[in-house]
Amino acid sequence: MKRIFKLLIILGCLLVFGACGEKENKRVIRIAHNQIQEHPTHIGLVAFEKFIEEKLGDKYDVQVFPNELLGSQINTVELTQTGAIDFVVASNAILESFDNIYQIFNLPYLFNSPEHYQAVMDNEGLITPIFTSTEKAGFEAVTWLNAGQRSFYTKKPINTPEDLKGLKIRVQQGATNIRMMELFGGAATPMGLAEVYTALQQGVIDGAENNELSLTTTKHGEVVKFYSYDMHQMVPDILIGNSKFLNGLPAQEREIFNQGFKVLSKVQRGAWEASVEKAKHQAKNEMNVQFIYPDVSLFKAKVLPLHGEVLKANPKLKPIYDKIQEIGAMIKEGITNDE
Ligand code: GCU
Repeated sequence: MKRIFKLLIILGCLLVFGACGEKENKRVIRIAHNQIQEHPTHIGLVAFEKFIEEKLGDKYDVQVFPNELLGSQINTVELTQTGAIDFVVASNAILESFDNIYQIFNLPYLFNSPEHYQAVMDNEGLITPIFTSTEKAGFEAVTWLNAGQRSFYTKKPINTPEDLKGLKIRVQQGATNIRMMELFGGAATPMGLAEVYTALQQGVIDGAENNELSLTTTKHGEVVKFYSYDMHQMVPDILIGNSKFLNGLPAQEREIFNQGFKVLSKVQRGAWEASVEKAKHQAKNEMNVQFIYPDVSLFKAKVLPLHGEVLKANPKLKPIYDKIQEIGAMIKEGITNDE
């Protein structure tokens, strides 16, 4: 009931927003995401908006809705599936519930380094078949965005996986994440990003896990004072678009949209490192967050069995997994991979 009510409110809002946008007979393109306006993702989307409106401004009015204004990530993926909105930036973590091919990028310690992660996500031969395979679910992925490395942040310091025992840790809503927390020994508490601050404050949860930006952009560093670099995941954010909308674009326009997706990715990823540095500085100096550097191998040992479990349950992931390992080995040996 609550969910239907929420969706009705969102649809009501869209009608109001839409009425303003469509009066010039332009097709309004609505893009939702859950970050604040200073976040690299919003900055990238504004660059996308500018690019599309420069090239196709007589036809399209691109509107970017930050801060879960149109609903949580799960709600807005649903709205994208039905075509009520056109695009949403969704964490790969929740996409696995819509198509289980996305389980692959939710595996902990899948990538050896940020270089490995980026090389895999930029490998078109590997990514394009995945991104275009979800038409049945009503959407297509058009580009990926950096969401950094995820680590635990908690009210008490985490130095070893044993410190997680019995702690209630917020995870994103996806089966792989819940299982990962189980293997770590903590109690997984799945919820959407917007609910985490209050849950931390009220003691519903003892901690969460995310990249460093969440300490400042969602202000979690006000409540939680220990960030422990176990670096268990690099989960990309993915821009997904409604399949009907994308397939209905004339070829020339689709080409311009494709260029726009590249602009988005370049601007978002270009702004990432500096944003992380700024967040760390602010968290440390203004919020008194302490950064801890534990022995990562202890954490890794706890959750590596999840790779085998997932590959067994979802065997179509095996060739993708093998290719990811191969790219990792090539990077280690210093061989460039530009396939
Ligand atoms: C990151 C990611 C978001 C995601 C969030 C979360 O901030 O960029 O897409 O929603 O983590 O933990 O929910």
